[in-house]
Amino acid sequence: MSNKKIILTGDRPTGRLHIGHYVGSLRRRVQIQNEGNFDKMYVMIADAQALTDNFDNPEKIRENIIEVALDYLSVGLDPSKITLFVQSYVKELTEITFYYMNLVTIARLHRNPTVKSEIEMRQFGGESIPAGFFTYPVSQAADITAFKGNIIPVGDDQLPMLEQTREIVRSFNRIYDTDILVEPKEVLPDNEACMRLPGTDGKAKMSKSLGNCIYLSDSSEELKKKIMGMYTDPNHIQVSDPGQVEGNMVFTYLDAFIKEDSFEKYAEIAKLDKEDDTLDKLKEHYKRGGLGDVKVKNFLYQILDAELAPIRERRKYYEARIEEVYKILEDGSKEAQKEAAKTLNEMKNAMKINYFEDKDLIASHVKKYENK
Ligand code: TRP
Repeated sequence: MSNKKIILTGDRPTGRLHIGHYVGSLRRRVQIQNEGNFDKMYVMIADAQALTDNFDNPEKIRENIIEVALDYLSVGLDPSKITLFVQSYVKELTEITFYYMNLVTIARLHRNPTVKSEIEMRQFGGESIPAGFFTYPVSQAADITAFKGNIIPVGDDQLPMLEQTREIVRSFNRIYDTDILVEPKEVLPDNEACMRLPGTDGKAKMSKSLGNCIYLSDSSEELKKKIMGMYTDPNHIQVSDPGQVEGNMVFTYLDAFIKEDSFEKYAEIAKLDKEDDTLDKLKEHYKRGGLGDVKVKNFLYQILDAELAPIRERRKYYEARIEEVYKILEDGSKEAQKEAAKTLNEMKNAMKINYFEDKDLIASHVKKYENK
């Protein structure tokens, strides 16, 4: 077993990426990439996984691969340092999934909390869940292990997938008496607000269908409009009223996006009081009363706009180079495919299903029939 540091992660291409993706995982990926302390890093566009519940609408996936790729490049993922690829172009992943299916029970899949809640959300009644969707955690285990990924930057909704992957790794290594597969470990966001950034309306999760997202590609004007319309404290009517900070999206987003120099840079433009020079003090002021929503919203807008501006700029650069972006994905997919093929080969050796390469097997069968 090697102790290489291999980072692997990905997203389903069902829409543009939003700031929930950003604080939940993208920002961390870029940081890891730029620190450079790894052997290999892969970021995958999980189109095959997205098809498990969009099989009747492949057009949606086809349209969004480029969107996700543009979002990746615009946050600063750099194809000269890491490998960006498209899942379905690595056909070994489906073969690996097929062998892993044997190591997982239906009961275990039913217990996967992410699958459970997704089944409820999609209202598959009774036994009418498509088998492909039901088993996607197995395919995700293939995604991770095909590259021997051991560091997986994800949001906490992916923890059940990683747990299941570890179980598959242990089963495989035990049953086939090998140590080729590696157990992955998650890297989670370091603060609560980033773990599960709620939508601008205060609803549980940022999601396209709820229309409560701020996209990485939103213009400065769109951003401002969305922030000004954000859910705060419905009982905070007059500026002088005491306000609630919990469940107030403006403060939740500040928790997620505030930086050390945010007050120094933007407090004045947002017309905050001089005394309110930390987030804790700002919250206290809001709770006491006397601090209006518009000021806090404007402060948040300044911070977010500064964070998103370079992302928008880079997006523009790549939007003018679409063919180049497709080429990046194609080259990355070829490279990823080679790597996955190596692992699959090792797996087949461990399972002893490499019949044609197994000279001993052939010799033993020659012997078996020699003296007949
Ligand atoms: N399930 C992930 C999501 O919905 C996408 C994904 C597919 C993934 N394969 C992966 C994430 C492997 C990390 C590692 O966002």
